Amino acid sequence: MIWRELWAQAEAALGSRAEARRIVERASGYDGAELALHLEEHVPARAVPYAEGMVARRAAGEPLQYVVGRWGFRGLDLLVDRRVLIPRPETETVVEAALGELRGRLGGIAPVVVDLGTGSGAIALAVAQEVAGARVWGTDVSSAAVAVARANLAGLGCAGAQRVRLAVGRWYDALPPELQGHVDLIVSNPPYVADREPLPAEVAEWEPPEALFSGPTGFEAVGEIVAGAASWLARPGALVVEIAPHQAAAASDMARRAGFAAVEVRADLLGRPRVLVARV
Ligand SMILES: C[S@@+](CC[C@H](N)C(=O)[O-])C[C@H]1O[C@@H](n2cnc3c(N)ncnc32)[C@H](O)[C@@H]1O
Repeated sequence: MIWRELWAQAEAALGSRAEARRIVERASGYDGAELALHLEEHVPARAVPYAEGMVARRAAGEPLQYVVGRWGFRGLDLLVDRRVLIPRPETETVVEAALGELRGRLGGIAPVVVDLGTGSGAIALAVAQEVAGARVWGTDVSSAAVAVARANLAGLGCAGAQRVRLAVGRWYDALPPELQGHVDLIVSNPPYVADREPLPAEVAEWEPPEALFSGPTGFEAVGEIVAGAASWLARPGALVVEIAPHQAAAASDMARRAGFAAVEVRADLLGRPRVLVARV
């Protein structure tokens, strides 16, 4: 069998040429344009069951990102599996807002950044890669998630990797106390779904519950992060948090009550209010 045939078989099974292609890329090791150059090549015997296994997992409903075990986020090629949330496009907007604060108003040398609930490490590693000299802490309550972030950190292979520290624990509890009052930017994509809120099966059945659900109202984690931020931030400092669109008013009110002077909620790529930006 040649790669072209394997691709056609996978497409027939999944009803998606694009998804079949990702699986063939994974099985062959040929990415992007490179695959086209090798389509007539024979598939090594052990790659056939590997690819068929991935097709079967996808056909059973497992998200493609977990099946192929990696996903792109702002130029990073991240390892992802069921221990972590699959990085979403709206979180790229969160990183954009964080970078805006770091490059603009906070524009100091070697800023200290904290990513609360780092999961795969997506936000922490993107900031470390894109902001020269930034010293970044990534924390998560899930030690399994931190293990994935650690693998991604090891695979980053750039100077930025040496400036990232990872820690296990609940929100601010994971940070060393001496960091209090010295953090230039806190960024987070916390869980913000209410416990009883329905989610698509592909999300609810596969992604880690602690990455999705926050508690009875869905606002618990956002509330805790906003309420605790001011005491960890330097002056000037900023807080950037991903929220659900319906939480925009509550999150803004809470930030003002917590002592933030300038508070706004920015839209994601689809125009939904998704990113709380609060400054002290
Ligand atoms: C929505 S996911 C975000 C993952 C990653 N930052 C991203 O944007 O793709 C939320 C993360 O917060 C973590 N988390 C949940 N509750 C937490 C808590 N009390 N303290 C710290 N992290 C928590 C989850 O384990 C999960 O990795």
